[in-house]
Formats: sequence, structure tokens, C-alpha cells
Amino acid sequence: MERNRKSPWEKLELGTCYYPEHWDSSLWEQDLGRMLAHGITTIRVGEFAWNLTEPEEGVFTFTFWDRFLDLAEQAGMKVIFCTPTATPPAWLTDKYPEVLNARRDGVLYRHGMRRHYNYNSKKYQELSARVVEKLGEHYGKRPCIVGWQIDNEFNCETQEFYSESDTLAFREFLRDKYGTLEELNRAWGNAFWNQTYTAWEQIFVPRTTYGDGTNPHQKLDYMRFVSESAIRFCGMQSEILRKYVKPGDFITTNGMFGSLDNHRMTRDCLDVYTYDSYPNFAFAMREDPRHNTTLLDRKWSRSLMEVRSVCPHFGIMEQQAGAGGSIGSDAPAPKPGQMMLWAMQSIAHGADYVSFFRWRTAAFGTEIYWHGLLDYDNLPNRKLAELQRLHARVEAIQELAGADYVAPVALVKDYDNVFDASLDAWHGKLTRSSEMELFVGAQLSHTPLDALYLQEGTTLEDLKQYRVLFCPHQVILTQAQAKLLEDYVRQGGSLVLGARTGQKDVDGHCVMAPMPGLLAPLTQTRVKEFTWIGPGDDPVPMDWNGRALDTGLFNDVLAPAGEDAKVLARYSGDTWYAGEPALLETQAGEGKVLHFGGTFTRESVQALLEYLGVREPLGDLLQVPPACEAALRRKGEREYLLVLNYGKEPQELLLKRPMVDLDDRCPVEGSVVLGSYETKVYRIGG
Ligand code: GAL
Repeated sequence: MERNRKSPWEKLELGTCYYPEHWDSSLWEQDLGRMLAHGITTIRVGEFAWNLTEPEEGVFTFTFWDRFLDLAEQAGMKVIFCTPTATPPAWLTDKYPEVLNARRDGVLYRHGMRRHYNYNSKKYQELSARVVEKLGEHYGKRPCIVGWQIDNEFNCETQEFYSESDTLAFREFLRDKYGTLEELNRAWGNAFWNQTYTAWEQIFVPRTTYGDGTNPHQKLDYMRFVSESAIRFCGMQSEILRKYVKPGDFITTNGMFGSLDNHRMTRDCLDVYTYDSYPNFAFAMREDPRHNTTLLDRKWSRSLMEVRSVCPHFGIMEQQAGAGGSIGSDAPAPKPGQMMLWAMQSIAHGADYVSFFRWRTAAFGTEIYWHGLLDYDNLPNRKLAELQRLHARVEAIQELAGADYVAPVALVKDYDNVFDASLDAWHGKLTRSSEMELFVGAQLSHTPLDALYLQEGTTLEDLKQYRVLFCPHQVILTQAQAKLLEDYVRQGGSLVLGARTGQKDVDGHCVMAPMPGLLAPLTQTRVKEFTWIGPGDDPVPMDWNGRALDTGLFNDVLAPAGEDAKVLARYSGDTWYAGEPALLETQAGEGKVLHFGGTFTRESVQALLEYLGVREPLGDLLQVPPACEAALRRKGEREYLLVLNYGKEPQELLLKRPMVDLDDRCPVEGSVVLGSYETKVYRIGG
């Protein structure tokens, strides 16, 4: 855990993703020179280039990368070198089709795209291990290499694997987990619909069934298995690389995708975590009614919050530099200032390294519309000029490197619930809505928010970093989690729970006790009844001291179940449970727990933050309009304030304390106007 807390970057650095194999080698030297002249000190190479090292099975050659790395070294460019396992060569998939991933109905995904392999093929593991070993052996001590990226974006493209190797590995995973078929049949509730297994060979990864009614407990274990498979594949590579990398060089992987315990992967296999940030997606998805457009590109701060929970000081391996389009989207080109804004968004949330995707837009292949810093014509352009300004900015704010993001409130999560929410329709809808509203409510009230994952090794001290914890829908609740949350409250924390808390156990079975289940002794509350707010129903408000607040999508009708539970708000409006408790507060030890029966809305979030005394904690430092995001970073005695204007319209701030604008080192206080997409970095005090 500790290892991941240390950033491998001693200062803020800029980079780019470069694909020497896409260009005539006569361009390499010029490209490297131009990058350096624009402040790019590191490049990432090689993640899709297996053939360049092993053009035929068992035949290894290093001439391509030797030549390129010699040039990089001469130019003084640092390199993040990648293992190429995201794109198996044609000779490999042709000879060994068992390495391919399959659709649920068994049809194989063929050569011609990427990530078409499965993690569990023994052949793929063997051939991957060999090419990684060869690359590690040959390049591990190369002076220009500073880090290694394993594969590319685990679980991107698909998070579902249905090959024969997956079924074999799934059986092993289940044998290890359950030991006996009796135990598996119990955990999967196989008495339901006569699903009992009498031999391990009868068990498969989920297969085609009517609708999507496959056994939910099987699916929950399957997601855990997919996560485990990706982590094992990553771990296999990192173990090999460890034998060869120079002291100080880091091992990482990039992206953040589903069905994957990114925290455990980082803890077990990596030195640092890197994320790929594409906020311009927001503008491409605008027409999609399922997409919440309130915060558009600012919503990427939510992903960055998650990334920060994996690794407080992280890198951005791919930062959007241009419009994207390979998936049929018609995203606009970033407007002047937006590229810098998005880079600053990453830095505000804890990135010490920002690497742009990509140096030059591909002139061929699937991604000719995923635009890089340079366009096909290779001429100086607006984006390059913006990069130059970003470079000057990064140099001006160097003292920010390694400062911690400061948040008084955290959203509590864990992977069993993340996985269950992606399978269980009720859990999923509640969670998606509440987490988004919590984020929006926190953003609009300028209340910095962290994510805190309950995982192996999470301690009470981790929880005590926060004054308030929101645990919106902890549907699966374990004894260990209940104990941790209870200790947190007793030692002075404020815990907010939402609907369906404690509904299930770790197998995903519903607990035969009133909700909130294992937390009932702490909350002294119980759920009497529950219901969706149906599509034809009016919204159901709760009356909290005369204020009507919407209770969202779903209502648990609550009741006190002990002397200490106090009703704070009751359901109101035209509903059959009007007058029943919607929000209860229970003091326990030094702290308190608030049990809320609904899903959260941005208004109820802000009312709760206010009630718990943490709304707008930056209010003493500045007054900032809702259109801007504000972040506080701390390093020793020093504190920094970052303000980001996501809009075209100018925004006025009021700085309430003397500060230093790090761009020009001038003291500043009082009113400041931020132009379109402008960002500011202030040191608080002198
Ligand atoms: C990322 C990926 C890159 C590139 C980029 C733009 O997901 O890692 O290789 O595809 O998106 O689409």
C-alpha cells in the first residue's frame, strides 16, 4: 500500500504517446526535438507492437526499438516502454485460436481489432510471458527508460470473457473458493429453478440463457473471477519485469475499467497507477438521454476522484488533446483553452504526470479521427501553441508537485457492491443515481470529495481522515465493514446511509432480518416497507424542518428501533406513507449516523452537508461561482488553491485571503475574473 503512495515523479512532467511504427523513421529525430522544445520530457511507446520484437513465433529481434531508443537517448527523451500483449500478432491467433476471447454464444473475436485475447489461455500466458521476458532482459537497463506500462487498458473494449480457457479457469477459481459442490450450490442458491450442479464439469462461465436471467450469484462470482483473471495476468508480467527493471523505474498500467479491482491490481502488481482522461466524451454524449449533462467535462473530476483513491499521486497516461471519433461519435475539437483546462483538471486532482494522446493523429487505421497534438499535416497549430503555454504554466507551479488533495467528505465504496450494482437492476439504478447526485451536490457547493474503498487492509485511521462519510447504498454488508463503520461513528465520525443498506450478504443473498441488517445495532432503526417511486407516481418529498426535499427514486419507509434514534424528516406529499420517517439520526459514542430512506439528490446532499457542518469548506478562502471547480492541495505547511472555469463565460471569484498567483508570482486578493476555460493556481498566504 505504502509503495503506491509515493509518486515516481519528483516534479510535474508532461509527456505524449508516440508510435514510431506509424511513421517513416526519417521523422523520428525531428519529432523528438519538437516534443522537447514544447516541454515534453517523456514518451510512451510500444504498447501495440508485438510484431516488431517477435515477427515470427520464437524469432526475436530488437533492431527497431534499439534504433529508436538510441535516438531517444541521444535527444535526452525519457521513455515509458510497454509490454505489447494488448494486440497479439496474426501468426499467434492464427496458429492458436484458443487464445482468442469469445462472445457469450461462443463465437470467437478474430484478428483485426485489439484486445481480442483472453487472460486465461495457457498458451497466451506462455507466449506473453516469453515476449515480456525478452523485452525486460533486453531493455531493462536502458538508461532512457524510466518506467514500464503493462499491456494497455485492461478490460477496455469488453469486460466479458467466454472462451473455453475461461470456463476451465472459472472452475478452478470456484473449487478454490468453495472446496465442495455443496458449498457452491448453497452460495449460488441453486435450489432455485433446479440449478443444482452434481459435477464441476457442468459449470461454465455464464452462457446464453433467456433474457438476462442467468443466476445472479453465478454472475457475481463471474465478475470477481474476471477481475482476478486480469490481475493475475498483470501480476505475471510485473513479476517478470521486476527481475530486470533498474532501481527507481516504475511499473504501471493505464485506464480504469469495470469488472476489475483496480485497487488490488495496483497494490499487488504496480508501483503507480495511471489513468486515461478523455473529458471531451461529454460533448459527444450530449444527445444521449442517459447521460447526465449537468457537469459535462467537469464530470471527469469524478473519475479522477476514483483514481486518487487508488493512488493519491498518479499519472495521466493519455490526456485528451483533440476530438475523438473512432466509435462513431462526433465530438467537437477542444475549444481554445480546453486542452489546458483538462490537463489542469488532472493536476488539480493529483496527477504529477500528464501525457497527451497522441503526438500526431494517425494517418491510417481505426483511429484516424482520434486527434493528437499535431494533425496529419504535421504543421505547427493551435494545440501545439497551447501545449507551449501549458509547459510554461507547469514550470510556474512546480511547487505543487506531490501536494495532497484535501477533502473533508468521502464516498464509501467496495468492489462487491460495485460488481453487484452492475448486475442487480435495483442496486444499480440506486447507486448510479446517488453517486452522481452526491458528486454534483459536492461540486456545486464546492465541497471537495474523495472516494474511499473498503478493502483488505483498510483501517479505522483511513476512515478517520474524513469528517463525513456517505455510504449511499451498501447493499452487500459484511461484519468487518459494519464494525469499521461503527467504530468510525463511535470515535466521532458522521456516517450517512441511504436506502437498501444491509440488504444482502457477501454471496448476494438477501438477509432475513430488517434492513439495515448488520448496522441496525448502530442505527437503532429499521426499514418497515419499501417501494420504487413508480414512473406514474409524483415525486415524494420529505419535510425537513419545513423544507421539502425530493427523496429520489426509491423509498425505504423507516422506523426508530431504539431509544436514541431521532426522526429528523418525514415523508410528505401525496403518498400512502406520508408522515412516516424518511431520515433518522442516532448519536453513538462521539459521532452520529444518519439513516436516510431515499436515493440522494443534489439538493438533499447539500442539505446534509450543511447539517453536518462540511458544506463549502473553502468558503473562508474564496467565494466561487457554481460554474467553477475549486480544489485545495496541501504540502507540509503550504496550501494551494486551484480554480477551474469550465465555461465559455467569464466568472468572477472573490479571494478572501491574500494569495500568490503562481503564474506571475504576484500577490492577489479580492475580485478576480477568470476568462473562458481559464484556470488559476494560488498559493495561500505569502
Ligand atoms: C484509449 C486507448 C488508446 C486510444 C485512445 C483513443 O482508450 O488506450 O490506445 O485508443 O483510447 O481512442
